[in-house]
Amino acid sequence: MANDNSKSVLSHEKIETSNFLMIVLILVVLLFGGLVEIVPLFFQKSTTEPIKGIEPYTALQLAGRDIYTREGCYNCHSQMIRPFRAETLRYGHYSVAGESVYDHPFQWGSKRTGPDLARVGAKYSDEWHRIHLTNPRDLVPESNMPAYPWLAKTPVDAAVMPAHMTALRRVGVPYTDAQIASAAEDVKGKTELDATIAYLQVLGLALR
Ligand code: HEC
Repeated sequence: MANDNSKSVLSHEKIETSNFLMIVLILVVLLFGGLVEIVPLFFQKSTTEPIKGIEPYTALQLAGRDIYTREGCYNCHSQMIRPFRAETLRYGHYSVAGESVYDHPFQWGSKRTGPDLARVGAKYSDEWHRIHLTNPRDLVPESNMPAYPWLAKTPVDAAVMPAHMTALRRVGVPYTDAQIASAAEDVKGKTELDATIAYLQVLGLALR
């Protein structure tokens, strides 16, 4: 008994009984859906332009950011405040894309063994961070955050900074020649602890 569909070339039955056709068509649908969602983001000002108050990281802050990724802080700390009341009450204004246009790679994450750090800047004094990073238990007795005592004893690797900033400029961070030229000088004599604190203290200041 032929029904109406039997004549059409791509009847549902044909698709559903052919693994190959099914896979190809699923891929086409996913590809299309992906493109429709992703491509416009590259052209939307709200995702490609920094919001007011966002500046490229200084050489010292950038060095701190590298230490943050090297030490794996992101394994326990997100930098992404979701637009829910419980989150904004605790952490402040929810995160917006324009805050991380200079972040390569971004540190949004979702793993929260510790609190979100997207707006931790200016929440504590430098001295607080100095003690906390060297041994969290000295300030928060129940903390299970690891201690990072070597940061205070290790100088920042100044030599890599100009090349690092040049690379970031290639992907769109507007560093000037002067900033790149003085990068090594700017971090000279600083410890990794100084750099990490400089980075933490600038997080989230633009939107509070
Ligand atoms: C094993 C998980 C873990 C890792 C890794 C970790 N932390 Fe934490 N962190 C925590 C926990 C838990 C807390 C909450 C208790 C406390 O304040 O010590 C915390 C708290 C903090 C706070 C205070 C936040 C606030 O709003 O009170 C800062 C700042 C911080 N961590 C920075 C860092 C940095 C920088 C690194 C990497 C060098 C790091 N953490 C690595 C678990 C971690």
